[in-house]
Amino acid sequence: MPRQLFVTTALPYANGHFHIGHIMEYIQADIWVRFQRMQGHTVHFVCADDAHGAPIMIAADKAGKTPQQFVADIAAGRKPYLDGFHIAFDNWHSTDAPENHELAQAIYKDLKAAGLIETRTIEQFFDPEKNMFLPDRFIKGECPNCHAKDQYGDNCEVCGKVYSPTDLINPYSALSGAKPVLKHSEHFFFKLSDPRCLAFLKQWTTSGAVQPEVLNKISEWIAPDENGQTKLGDWDISRDAPYFGIEIPDAPGKYFYVWLDAPVGYLASLKNWLGRQGIDYAAFMADPSTEQYHFIGKDIITFHTLFWPAMLHFSGRKTPNAVFVHGFLTVNNGEKMSKSRGTGLDPLKYLSLGMNPEWLRYYLAAKLTARNEDLDFNQEDFQLRVNSDLIGKFINIASRAAGFIAKRFNGRLGAASADGAALLQALQAKAPAIAALFDAREYGKALREVMALADQVNAYVDQNKPWELAKQDGQEAR
Ligand code: MSP
Ligand code: ZN
Repeated sequence: MPRQLFVTTALPYANGHFHIGHIMEYIQADIWVRFQRMQGHTVHFVCADDAHGAPIMIAADKAGKTPQQFVADIAAGRKPYLDGFHIAFDNWHSTDAPENHELAQAIYKDLKAAGLIETRTIEQFFDPEKNMFLPDRFIKGECPNCHAKDQYGDNCEVCGKVYSPTDLINPYSALSGAKPVLKHSEHFFFKLSDPRCLAFLKQWTTSGAVQPEVLNKISEWIAPDENGQTKLGDWDISRDAPYFGIEIPDAPGKYFYVWLDAPVGYLASLKNWLGRQGIDYAAFMADPSTEQYHFIGKDIITFHTLFWPAMLHFSGRKTPNAVFVHGFLTVNNGEKMSKSRGTGLDPLKYLSLGMNPEWLRYYLAAKLTARNEDLDFNQEDFQLRVNSDLIGKFINIASRAAGFIAKRFNGRLGAASADGAALLQALQAKAPAIAALFDAREYGKALREVMALADQVNAYVDQNKPWELAKQDGQEAR
């Protein structure tokens, strides 16, 4: 039975170009999508820029641009990366698009109607010069634990202590240098601590929607302690103006926190794409046979396996069939990639050197598993695997035969001999097992199987030496 799939990757922040970690995520998903299509299934594969939030607003301001212009400029640079690595999203949209404003507000209204939105007054640091509330990352000061200077508002990079910005000694605004003042503000909360949410999340997270090691990780949030309490508190979903985001209905000056509207961007991109295909979005999402899958990295698990399914479920929408979590890609033995800073392996540089994108796709696929575990891009290992497997085994089959087939047989193959046909049948018999590995995202295992088949073919060619047969008289007829 042909299936109907809706597949996404995480929406990258629109404050920088792609690094090789993004490309890895897209390649992992792209392989899976191509595989599902080869099985005859229909796949809608979409992504978008994650446009909103304080860091982007502040970066735009520094660049002397409006946030809209700033994210449009980043979006304009996406295509060479995606085309260059054969990553074939059906649609690339933006969380600032009208579909997302509408959908985020609609979901919020439904959550409110379900009794899961609450307002509370909180105290927060405010920059009196910039006239804005400061996100934790934009407050600095002296660590209350080890007294290191210039530490961030959420944790100390010297001693590792985690604290709240109000614990900092001599706090200052990283934007203006001004001393921040504590100010009251009304915030909106999604009541995740509601027993209904906990009951739903317990059910959803154990329904096979997440990998076992991911379930392990998130269990600590939803498992009750000895007093029956869980760590899952209510989620602060509002931010005060000035903010680059989506306005909260009936709440002037209040915006959705970026992580509220970001995953809604999956739906907005899908809606935009289906609309352009003449497919009705509401009907597609209401169809019980529609399957929804998200590929993400390990740093954004809680947003996707707790907040997002709860948002969808309690607003009366379809929940994801699965969230597929991958580990982080490091370069040359563990060099990390930051969100803003790239690494030694710049994707566009790779392409501009004339390196084949299929080499990288092959190499990453050969290292990918279904598990949430990190993987390293290692230059020597890359060269070795491409040369020995891809070129030495797979391409070798064609390259060692191409010469005489072109020269003496007009580039045409004859009928297979009896033992050749038997070999072919043995290769084809492996297809279901290899397909199952691709479906389970065990690409490394799948490729090992494929290369074992290439070994068999090469051994057959070695035994039969067709280049010698080709030289014998009368062979042209065959
Ligand atoms: N904007 C959010 C996601 C919102 S989804 C509704 C975000 N953006 S991001 O640009 O920081 O990351 C995008 C994706 O890239 C995430 O899945 C993240 O885990 C992944 N990666 C970021 N660095 C990575 C590596 N070094 N390796 C592999 N994936 C990495 O988070
Ligand atoms: Zn410290």
